[in-house]
Amino acid sequence: MNVDINLFNLPQNPFGASTGQTNWKGSGEEITITSPVDGKELGKLNMASEADYKKVIKTAAIAAKEWKNIPAPKRGEIVRQFGDVLRKNKEVLGKLVSYEMGKSLQEGYGEVQEMIDICDFATGLSRQLYGLQIQSERPDHRMMEQWHPLGVVGIISAFNFPVAVWSWNAAIAWVCGNVCIWKPSEKTPFTALKCQELFTQVLKVNNLPEGISNVIIGDYEVGQLMTADTRISLISATGSTRMGKAVAQSVAKRLGKSILELGGNNAVIITENADLSHAIPAIVFGAVGTAGQRCTSTRRLIIHQNKYEQLKELLLKAYKQLRIGNPLDENNHVGPLIDKEAVEAYKNSIEKAIVQGGKVLHGNEVIKGEEYSTGCYVMPTIIEAAPEMEIVKHETFAPIVYLMKYDTLEEAIGIQNSVPQGLSSAIFTLNVREAEQFLSSAGSDCGIANVNIGTSGAEIGGAFGGEKETGGGRESGSDAWKAYMRRQTCTVNYGTKLPLAQGIKFDI
Ligand code: UN1
Repeated sequence: MNVDINLFNLPQNPFGASTGQTNWKGSGEEITITSPVDGKELGKLNMASEADYKKVIKTAAIAAKEWKNIPAPKRGEIVRQFGDVLRKNKEVLGKLVSYEMGKSLQEGYGEVQEMIDICDFATGLSRQLYGLQIQSERPDHRMMEQWHPLGVVGIISAFNFPVAVWSWNAAIAWVCGNVCIWKPSEKTPFTALKCQELFTQVLKVNNLPEGISNVIIGDYEVGQLMTADTRISLISATGSTRMGKAVAQSVAKRLGKSILELGGNNAVIITENADLSHAIPAIVFGAVGTAGQRCTSTRRLIIHQNKYEQLKELLLKAYKQLRIGNPLDENNHVGPLIDKEAVEAYKNSIEKAIVQGGKVLHGNEVIKGEEYSTGCYVMPTIIEAAPEMEIVKHETFAPIVYLMKYDTLEEAIGIQNSVPQGLSSAIFTLNVREAEQFLSSAGSDCGIANVNIGTSGAEIGGAFGGEKETGGGRESGSDAWKAYMRRQTCTVNYGTKLPLAQGIKFDI
């Protein structure tokens, strides 16, 4: 299946005039972007130098002054228009996501759909950034709590969700009155530039400064400039735990704010009372969807011993039916990994699992042949393992799932919680006691806990994020917006006296 790159109408290098705007023109190191799908070149571009970064932050800071004074519902209207532009461009952007990143076309479209949905959510939110009225202990006093924009928000996103995760952050940050500087993964810069182009169209039509949205293409060095910069009030970073620790330290050093959405090691508990006709497709999609490169991918199955053999057989049968190949061909279930480095990580983890006592039941193969010439296509892998094995506690961004047995639900929950990560979790059971125990404070320790659905594919309406090494941040829906604003407690004295709080008398 041949992909015509012209379809995407990508900006070429050097693109144009200004850094950090529609037309990206960096002056740092040149990089070549090739698709993991077929190895073809999407284009070359230069990453940002320090001088480029300085221009971007300046542009953003100027735009921030104008944007924060525009009423929130008017900011919401801009985000609504962006949602409309995304609707019109869903096909081309979805295809580009699929081609540049390697996820299936349906998932590429799904990502753009998440962007559209968060724009709708943020538009509504722009009229609901509610504060509080608080009862004062003093007569003729009014207390309230209100929310103000932070200023500049930095968004560092990963290759695996090259557009959706940005939009969760950006759409909310914008309606909250902030401008954004987005550093996408340098593995997927073209999808980012395409999004920037689309948003800039909306800004132009509305005569607003382009600096409300900025993209900066660069590697960890640009990330360091952002995290250390006091002009960026909040850094929202998505990626590995290792990256997150570096970001957290750098931002904390200047007492800035951060939202971290890091590694997951997500488990599904399958109890004696599970409906396997639901569990199997949910597990397979969770484990092999996006070739196991979601932070919510299913990595561990904790199976009741009485259901173990049956589930294993059904799973193997399902895995044998998987079609692996060009993700733009909608008949295929699984596309490539992002690059050769990811393939090495896949191989290393399987090797470690074997050394530590694991038994490979399916997979452990880098697929060869003409269609797979990039060397990035791997067989989804099933490994029988034990919860104590080192490798089981580790997140490998690849389609590898570990099978483990349990006896009591307490034991299963113990295994589920025994890893350093705490993003997503699920239980399959038709027994209400088991389901409620899993959701109780004695149950899953993750930010996401599901019953009778899988670990991945969260809706944008909920707060997204997790505990422990996942970083503790929450993005997207619910009241996650509060992290993108500063809270102000205000007390107004409309009386004729000056009573002090706590009954203190101070007469002069
Ligand atoms: C991620 O992998 O960083 O819940 C985000 C999901 C998607 C988002 C994943 N909605 O799987």
